[in-house]
Amino acid sequence: MNGQGMGLKGSKVFISGAGRGLGEGIATHLGSLGAVVAVADVNEETAAAVAAKIIEAGGEAVAYGGDLGSRPVYHDTMAAFARAYGPVDALINNASYLVYEPIEKVTEETLERMIASGLKSVFWGVQAFLEHRDPNAVRGDIINYSSPVAYRGRPNTAAYTAIKGAIAAMSNVLAGELGPRGIRVNVIAPGSVPTPATAGFVTAEQYEQRAKGIPLRRNGRPDDVAKAVAFLLSDEADFINGAMLSIDGGIIAAG
Ligand SMILES: NC(=O)c1ccc[n+]([C@@H]2O[C@H](COP(=O)([O-])OP(=O)(O)OC[C@H]3O[C@@H](n4cnc5c(N)ncnc54)[C@H](O)[C@@H]3O)[C@@H](O)[C@H]2O)c1
Repeated sequence: MNGQGMGLKGSKVFISGAGRGLGEGIATHLGSLGAVVAVADVNEETAAAVAAKIIEAGGEAVAYGGDLGSRPVYHDTMAAFARAYGPVDALINNASYLVYEPIEKVTEETLERMIASGLKSVFWGVQAFLEHRDPNAVRGDIINYSSPVAYRGRPNTAAYTAIKGAIAAMSNVLAGELGPRGIRVNVIAPGSVPTPATAGFVTAEQYEQRAKGIPLRRNGRPDDVAKAVAFLLSDEADFINGAMLSIDGGIIAAG
């Protein structure tokens, strides 16, 4: 299926935390399908590198640096994208700051940074998207992220799980609240995809071990997630709102 067929050509998509990991994979895939991608990240250099890669491949992208856990920064960033390219069609709330640690080790500083990057950014992103979408558009898309940890009670993930569980619950609310405006709010739960975020917490050997317990007997890849996101943004997913799509080889269901 080409980009035109998926209805993504010219679609303006804002992706938070797209400077690396899953966000980078989604940005490059959507860029290849003809979307105009805002690659936003607290790390300006990585955001610029991802946008440059998309442009080099013949796509359209723009990089923004800034801490999207800050409401004014998020609003200004989305405004800049809308000023440059026009009303925004889709928002992918991908940014996250990950720490796995035992509950007694969680400090106020870590918790606050995790909540700002991973949860507050979702609130600010949705607000900014609502402000900068075409009010007459018949549809819009928001994709939020949960995780298998929010459904499986994994030790040492209390802070991260609290955020991912909150996002899943909040997304149900938004599906109902924004659906009447034509906005589809869906959640994805990627599972066990090695990225820079998890490198500090999960070794290559542990990933190999994990794969043996995943029903599809492998870990995920960024393009598994990118393809699912493209589907959710496409015309093929017209009536999907409030869904939670696991992209985890079966971890939540059976792993
Ligand atoms: N990798 C997995 O297996 C997995 C599993 C479940 C869910 N997820 C979710 O997928 C998303 C992407 O995860 P990843 O593994 O690619 O993570 P990652 O850490 O590799 O990438 C996250 C990006 O977000 C950026 N970021 C962090 N705080 C920010 C802020 N305040 N403002 C702007 N940018 C900020 C980082 O600089 C980084 O580029 C996250 O929401 C994560 O919770 C990942």
